[in-house]
Amino acid sequence: MNTRSPLDCPSWKKLEAHAASWRGATLAELQAGDASRARQMVAEAPGLRLDYSRQLAGGLTLRLLAQLAAERGFEEWRAALFAGEKINDTEKRAVGHIAVRADEAGFSRLKDFSEKIRAQGLVKRIVNLGTGGSDLGPRLLADAFGDGALDVRFVANADPVELERATAGARPETTLVVVTSKSFATQETMANAAALKERGYANFIAATANAREARRFGVSEILEFPDTVGGRYSVWSAAGFAGLLAIGGDAFSEFVAGGREIDGHFRSAPLEGNVPALMGMLGVWNVNFLGLHAHAVLPYAHRLRLLPAYLQQLEMESNGKGVDRAGRAVGYATAPVLFGAEGTNAQHSFMQQLHQGPLAVSADFIDAAAGELLSAHARAQADALAYGTQAGGGTALLPHLRHPGNRPSSILGLRGCGPRDLGRLVALYEHKVFTQGVLWNINSFDQWGVELGKQLAQAILTRSS
Ligand code: F6P
Repeated sequence: MNTRSPLDCPSWKKLEAHAASWRGATLAELQAGDASRARQMVAEAPGLRLDYSRQLAGGLTLRLLAQLAAERGFEEWRAALFAGEKINDTEKRAVGHIAVRADEAGFSRLKDFSEKIRAQGLVKRIVNLGTGGSDLGPRLLADAFGDGALDVRFVANADPVELERATAGARPETTLVVVTSKSFATQETMANAAALKERGYANFIAATANAREARRFGVSEILEFPDTVGGRYSVWSAAGFAGLLAIGGDAFSEFVAGGREIDGHFRSAPLEGNVPALMGMLGVWNVNFLGLHAHAVLPYAHRLRLLPAYLQQLEMESNGKGVDRAGRAVGYATAPVLFGAEGTNAQHSFMQQLHQGPLAVSADFIDAAAGELLSAHARAQADALAYGTQAGGGTALLPHLRHPGNRPSSILGLRGCGPRDLGRLVALYEHKVFTQGVLWNINSFDQWGVELGKQLAQAILTRSS
């Protein structure tokens, strides 16, 4: 497998030279001068359409990015991902989330168990204890599509306030505590589990890759998932169980089916029409060649309001790396700072900075067909960022009224905003992250950078006790 630095790829130098040729180009002029641009710079995957005509990129940019992907061995890396090879080298593991999505039998077991709990009526409250990937995924599902059959709450923080709120009005006899933790060792989660045990809660189940520890803690049921599934990729597995309880088996099946559709697309679509690969390549172009180190994700749908937080972990924990696969300091930027909020709310808080602040930020607008007004605003924001006020005789405007434009974004158009659409979206970003990991020659599946802080906190606690 190719683990050479991207800096050694001939295409990297060509991209640097090519980026220089973009200085002074404006999206407003490009759009005015080339009517076919808006038609041509689109790509489709099952149930969605990427419009990247507002990126500061053209045909040559894409050819050079494809050359970079080829020089980095993208096809070989992708084949290794799908073949279950041990590409998570620092943890000596394969990467298992795609296999979990395809595991019909495993999913049926989870679904049957969840349907039993939902149908019996003995459980009134579910409390999911988990953090990071053991929280953000099931929480996103529950928030987006919870059908109210069960009252499902989430506790990620060690701050007792969150536990108090999640258990307010609950009775231990009718509460099922789902301890979601791949390691079954995360301090915050274990502290919350112990606190509930002390308060007389006895109805615990575990979603984990560490059955031994879960047994030792004492749970009535263990829903296992393989340790090849990283926390931030685990929503499809038993780690998503609280989400499954919240939305029901049929909706969860749809979610998984959406993910599988994108797996098929990512595996086989040629690079120039491969939506996750294009998103990954354009992201690298923005970060490394145009110098944009912040990226906003703006879903125009209330159901998707937690998606930015979910993607923040997915992208920044996966690709916020400073060492490459050969153990060298990378010497180039990797994951940008990712942030976001649902539209149109974001327009009334931080979008001012994106439109006129000197720090240029790239953006993904997700138009989830949640209504005409929302779609119009998503499109309007993307146009304002890209084309600015030039088109309306901007130079005549007072300075504070001018919008500079030339701020790149893409619009991801979804057919709707159901569980299948969300499954497609999540898998899409997973494969975008994978593509970028390949181009940056980094391991997107470990997270050693979170360990030192944990050890220091433990040392501080030990000293002060
Ligand atoms: O500390 C980071 C992290 O390990 C994440 O990668 C993970 O999603 C989260 O903590 C929770 O870990 P676990 O599921 O093992 O409790």
